[in-house]
Amino acid sequence: MASPKLNVVVRETNLPGIHFLNRGKVRDLYDVGGQLLLIATDRLSAFDVVLPTPIPDKGRVLTQLSLFWFNLLHDVIPNHIVTATDFPAELAPYRDQIEGRTMLCKRTNPLPIECVVRGYLSGSGWKDYRATGKICGIALPPGLQESARLPEAIFTPSTKATSGHDENISFDGAVSLIGAELAEKVRSVSLEIYRRAAAYAEPRGIILADTKFEFGLVGNQLIWIDEALTPDSSRFWPAHGYQPGRAQPSYDKQYVRDYLERIGWNKQPPGPELPPDVVAATRGKYREAYRQLTGHELS
Ligand SMILES: Nc1ncnc2c1ncn2[C@@H]1O[C@H](COP(=O)(O)OP(=O)(O)O)[C@@H](O)[C@H]1O
Ligand SMILES: [Mg+2]
Repeated sequence: MASPKLNVVVRETNLPGIHFLNRGKVRDLYDVGGQLLLIATDRLSAFDVVLPTPIPDKGRVLTQLSLFWFNLLHDVIPNHIVTATDFPAELAPYRDQIEGRTMLCKRTNPLPIECVVRGYLSGSGWKDYRATGKICGIALPPGLQESARLPEAIFTPSTKATSGHDENISFDGAVSLIGAELAEKVRSVSLEIYRRAAAYAEPRGIILADTKFEFGLVGNQLIWIDEALTPDSSRFWPAHGYQPGRAQPSYDKQYVRDYLERIGWNKQPPGPELPPDVVAATRGKYREAYRQLTGHELS
């Protein structure tokens, strides 16, 4: 069989005969023999709107980087990966669409919370801190600047909104959604993954400011699911030039956001097409994050 083409750009998959489940903002989901096929497309969302222009290589970066972290941190908690290379025969006709960007996963019951860990003060955390001195009910020292490193990383869960924005909740809020035992478990696992990943990334030039994990259950086994520590689920900041007291340049989407601000888009769907230079720069950023973290170029 001809080897699959890795340079195809996939904005939406089309796998006739394979049981389609759902299209998320970035991933297309299928059921294959009771397992979950998670295909990271090249879609990019900005300000919560999926843009019409795909970013070549983005889906492969998301999947390969997730696989890298799942593997590096497998001793912390089991993850959902079944395979990312040896797909069932019924997928053979679709190798161009799936190769390099796809994980066949254990299908779990996802917990109804997003497990956010913050090591730095940014985004909605910064907003909440400025208004209340707290994030998700956790009191922080007064006088911290935007982007400041926190004395220690904190677990700041949020709801999983099916539409619109996720909402930060207190730890007690998480307890009322999933129970105390599970809430304590995902808190300690999330903090441990964050600490390990942040310590790994920093000497490689990337500050892991914050990140979001998802977990699911199979029976009562807790499993790390979805994507892992990617530019889409995390804030990566270049360590070089880090300076508290202002927002940091985002690693990946800054070109896109700057462009969208420049043209005065009202941030309501549909989003505008991106020009080739913005696409190229964004693609370069995703590839660079992959290279810096793994130590090699995306093939
Ligand atoms: N192993 C798994 N079991 C069940 N659901 C999963 C698993 N891994 C990921 N998911 C779900 O698949 C979806 C991934 O698609 P994505 O495009 O990231 O969606 P979203 O727009 O909600 O972020 C998420 O809803 C996530 O909760
Ligand atoms: Mg997602």
